[in-house]
Order: sequence, then C-alpha cells, then structure tokens
Amino acid sequence: MNIHTVATQPYLDQKPGTSGLRKQVPTFQQRNYLENFVQSIFDSLDGYEGTTLVLGGDGRYYNREAIQIILKMAAANGFGKVLVGQGGILSTPAASNLIRQNQALGGIILSASHNPGGPEGDFGVKYNIDNGGPAPEKITNAIYKRTQTIDAYQMLEALDLNLDQLGTVALGEMTVEVVDSVAAYADLMQSLFDFDAIREYIASGFSLAVDSMHAVTGPYASKIFEGLLGAPAGTVKNGVPLENFGGGHPDPNLVYAHDLVEILFGDTPPDFGAASDGDGDRNMILGSNFFVTPSDSLAVLAANATLVPGYKDGIAGVARSMPTSAAVDRVAAKLNINSYETPTGWKFFGNLLDAGKATLCGEESFGTGSNHVREKDGLWAVLFWLNILAVRKQSVADIVKEHWATYGRNYYSRHDYEGVDSDRANTLMGNLRDKVGTMKGKTFGSYTVDYADDFSYTDPVDNSVSQKQGIRIGFTDGSRVVFRLSGTGTQGATLRVYLESYEADTAKHGIETQEALGELIQIADEIAQIKTLTGRDQPTVIT
Ligand code: G1P
Ligand code: ZN
Repeated sequence: MNIHTVATQPYLDQKPGTSGLRKQVPTFQQRNYLENFVQSIFDSLDGYEGTTLVLGGDGRYYNREAIQIILKMAAANGFGKVLVGQGGILSTPAASNLIRQNQALGGIILSASHNPGGPEGDFGVKYNIDNGGPAPEKITNAIYKRTQTIDAYQMLEALDLNLDQLGTVALGEMTVEVVDSVAAYADLMQSLFDFDAIREYIASGFSLAVDSMHAVTGPYASKIFEGLLGAPAGTVKNGVPLENFGGGHPDPNLVYAHDLVEILFGDTPPDFGAASDGDGDRNMILGSNFFVTPSDSLAVLAANATLVPGYKDGIAGVARSMPTSAAVDRVAAKLNINSYETPTGWKFFGNLLDAGKATLCGEESFGTGSNHVREKDGLWAVLFWLNILAVRKQSVADIVKEHWATYGRNYYSRHDYEGVDSDRANTLMGNLRDKVGTMKGKTFGSYTVDYADDFSYTDPVDNSVSQKQGIRIGFTDGSRVVFRLSGTGTQGATLRVYLESYEADTAKHGIETQEALGELIQIADEIAQIKTLTGRDQPTVIT
C-alpha cells in the first residue's frame, strides 16, 4: 500500500462556526486546505482505527473532489469502512440517520447549507459524532486547536473511485460501500408517518407543491412525494440537484424561495407548499396564501404530535434555540412538559435528545426536527405537516389560526443585515454588552425592560457552559428583542435582530407582522444604533 505522510503548514482561519467550517470554494481549493482540516478532525478523535465513517454532501461544486480526497485520507489513517452516498450525495438528515443505523463512529458532511454554491460560492465541512449529531464544542474546539499546529497528513496514493456505482470496493485496506442515498431515509420516514392516510388524502384532491431549489432534496422528494405518496409528476419543482443550485440561493424563506411563494400566493394556489435548503435540513411551510413562521410551525407540530404514529404516545419535552419565538413554550406549558432554551445551532439539542429530555426541537431559521435523527430535517417537517393535514382535513391557515386562538399569537420576525463591516458589527455588539447590565427597569415608548443579558447556557446534561450567545432584552409584557452575529457567514459580518411580541386577544391576530412589531423595530434601532453603526437604512433580508 502506498501511504504518504505529506508535510503541510497550518492555516490559521479554520475555526468551525455554528455549523462546521464554511469558506468560499477558492479558499478550500488552496493547497492542503481541505487535507489539513480533515486530518485535524481525525487527530481529534480517539480510537478511530478500524471504525466506520459516513461520508456525503449536498452535491455542491467541489463535493466530488472533496469526497475522493477524504476517502483516500480515511484509508491512509486506518479507518475500517466508509459508507458514501451514491454520487457523493447525502442530505444532512440522511447522513445523520446512516451514522445511527450503522453504529458508525461519525460522519463527514460536505455542505454550506443554504449558502450559494459554484466555483465562487461556498463550501463546507461538518463533523458529526456517533449519535448522528453535529460535534459538540468540546470537539470542534479540539479540531480548531489541531489545525493551528498541524504539520503533516496521511494520504493513500490510489485512483479515484466510481461514486456512481452502488456496491462495495476496497481502497487500500479500507472498505468503501457506495449506498443508495435515499432508501434508508425513506424507510425511516415510513416508520414515523401514516403514508397510507397521506396518499389517500392526495388521491382525494389535496394538492401540493414542493420546491427542492436544485439542491440535495430533489431525489428524496421525488421518491417520497411523487413515488411513495402518489402525488402527480411535477409536484416536486427544481428537483434536479445542480452544483451551483441553478445560480440560486437555496434558502427556503420568503425571499429566496420566490418561485414557490408565487405559486402559493398566486391565482390558483395548491393547498400546501414546502421548500428545502441546500443540504435538506431546513424547511418552509406554506398554505394557500399563507406563510407559517418556523416558530409557529414547531408549536403546531408539538400541539398535534399525538395525531402522528411516530409520536402517538406524546412527547417528552421540547427545545428551541434562544432567538426562536416562545410559541412552543406555551404548548409545553399546556402539555405539562419542559421547554428548553438553547443557544443557536443544532449541536445544542443533541444532549437533550440523547437524554430523552426533548422529543421535538426547532429554530426560527426554518429548522425543525425530532429524536428520529440528530439533525434538523426538512422533509420530515413536511411529512409531519402532511400527516396532520390528512387527519384534520382543515386548511393550513385554519389550523394555525385555531392554534393562535388557543395559545395566543407570538408575532415574530428576524431582520438580517448581511455583509456588514466586521469592525462596525463588533462595535455594535460590544456597545450592547456594555449596556445590558444597567437596562432593567428602563422604559422605551410603551415598553419597560424586564431583563437584559448576554445569553449564557448551561447544558442540563453535561453541565458544559456556553457564553456570549446573544444579547436578549425582554420587556415586561413578554415581548423580546435579541441581537447576535451570524456564525455561518463567509463575508464580513451578518447582524441578526430577532423581534417578538405576544398577543393573547384573538381580535388582534390579523395584523400584518411588521406592523404589529413596528414599535419594537424602532426600539431595537434606538438601543443598538443599527442604522448609525452599520450605515444601513434597512435590513437585507426580513423573514
Ligand atoms: C444559522 C441559523 C441557525 C442555524 C445555522 C445552521 O446560524 O441562524 O439557527 O442553526 O444557521 O443552519 P447563524 O448564521 O445565525 O450563526
Ligand atoms: Zn442546511
């Protein structure tokens, strides 16, 4: 066997963010850049010799090259077996499932999620641990530390493998099994949801449109919706994965999923619409002329979980990221179960799911999931909604409005300021940090500050502490403003401002969201001096 130890030098910018290492493609194409990071992952793991690794990505530009490199490095480092998705394709939730089903040591997922792809787009590498979930900070910190001193990596000299041919081949002393990207995931979905009921509902005339945005969910959605559930051909839009996502931005929100939004808000809209992101872990849910906020979606799923076979015995608890609206907390209170508030990023849900403290989890950023895997799962959320709709036989809008009538409505919006100068963004956050200690009791317009802090989280399972997770300012009526900087961007800084107000009165549930939040939006600017410090008049994206 021809294994080389290749000398290298550290790159100092390989710090994993909210969700792995994300950089522009040309950065990853620098000499040894990917190799350094992958070897640093391996060097941070204990006892990986002979174990199994799962490998796949969202099909974006550089996916195939990266997979060939990682396979040869895994073989040179002594892994026993690597399971690769056919064509190098695995959605993030499908990879999580394969890790769990095969008792793998972990997995490497190649994705920059919803960031654009292509030669000038973004690429990313995430490491997931044996529970199928993103590596916790203890491991990502160790990987980062290793990248700063790395001086060599191991590489097998071998020809590239054929990733399109299903089956098992040897690579040095390691086994590579190319597996069907969709089959195991589709089986898992059938074990959770009532496919017969959904199929009958579709056959009876219920109509839907699913937008895969030319990203990884295309083959998954085609098999599940048009194949197993019998929806008409054409139900899945933009279903062919492309290396540059057709030039689009595969982020399922009202701005970037405009094709779908036009259909659902058009003249003859279908009953239901959904979109997924680049790597298949995000979802957007729409009804005819109706948008369901991700925070409301989580709350509705929690409130209706017992209608779905996989959750018929009830849920143990729920978890949401701190900036996500408190709508699900109200459902938890009624169900008499715990609702956990975690920092942003799916990795913080892993311990709660493993310990059985939470069954459903969600983030305001179009992420919803459960204990069936350890990642958020876009198509799972779509199927959960379809199952509820097939049982309740009401429109999406009616289900959400009934939900508000029962629990009250949490008006919610996120304002993003993308590509802000990093120094300016850091000044803004620094100023807020200096202020929070003295804000309690201050009034702004009709609002009085109840608490203000920089969110710190102590994991209830392993007691690890994560600090500086975002500035929270809570008002006495339950409204909130949250400020944080994105940990997934690759250019400049992205300031995220999260706004939430609570309305119990059903007569006031029909107000347009930005209008309902109008005063809070002004107060957020007054407190953080957003316009002055960023030099921006308005947000880049409002969701
Ligand atoms: C964003 C979202 C966060 C999500 C992450 C990965 O992170 O806000 O909820 O977990 O992408 O999909 P951010 O850019 O805010 O750090
Ligand atoms: Zn994603």
